[in-house]
Amino acid sequence: MKLLRDKVMTEGIVLGDQVLKVDSFLNHQMDPLLMKEIGREFARRFQDEGITRILTIESSGIAPAIMTAMELGVPMIFARKHKSLTLKDNIYVEKVYSFTKRESNEITVSKKFLQEGDRILIIDDFLANGEAAFGLARIAEQAGASVAGIGIVIEKSFQPGAGLLQEAGYRVDSLVRIASLENGTVSFVEEVHGQ
Ligand code: G4P
Repeated sequence: MKLLRDKVMTEGIVLGDQVLKVDSFLNHQMDPLLMKEIGREFARRFQDEGITRILTIESSGIAPAIMTAMELGVPMIFARKHKSLTLKDNIYVEKVYSFTKRESNEITVSKKFLQEGDRILIIDDFLANGEAAFGLARIAEQAGASVAGIGIVIEKSFQPGAGLLQEAGYRVDSLVRIASLENGTVSFVEEVHGQ
């Protein structure tokens, strides 16, 4: 997706050779027009999959997920990473370990909002080791729903998540794929979608 690639090139800040800071448009300040285009692009890629719900995780997954949900005309649900005062019973829980942050979170989704037979599109902002995406997929599967695919805004292809998810049989569709962040420079994987 050219618009997003350009944004990464002009506003992304490389930290070390593992982390890309994108807080001017994705992780802190958010660019609504870019989010709208991201939603359109995910919707275009998954339009024939009979998606019934979008599933993401707070907080930075919410913006691309709601835009995709709006385009596809389906509800969006976000998994919570923090205990909610009103969400205690009747919940799906999965443990998600973050290698980046070296901490484990229990993520939760109310059983009310996922149904057997649902066709789920998982959306997230970053894909690194794949732990968040696997956790969301396990929650969908606990509910008896099927995972149609995993839509990622920025995939760090030099980390193992995308490969592990694909080996597990999931369709992974990333809008930009980063081959390397070495020497302070962003290198992209060749685009196959011609965007
Ligand atoms: P994984 O789910 O693919 O295994 O990723 P990981 O545990 O490594 O990611 C933990 C958090 O770090 C996630 O955000 C993820 O989006 C973020 N992250 C991973 N790599 C990068 C990167 O290169 N740049 C930036 N900016 N973020 C990265 P989170 O803690 O869930 O934060 P948020 O969604 O609340 O903003």
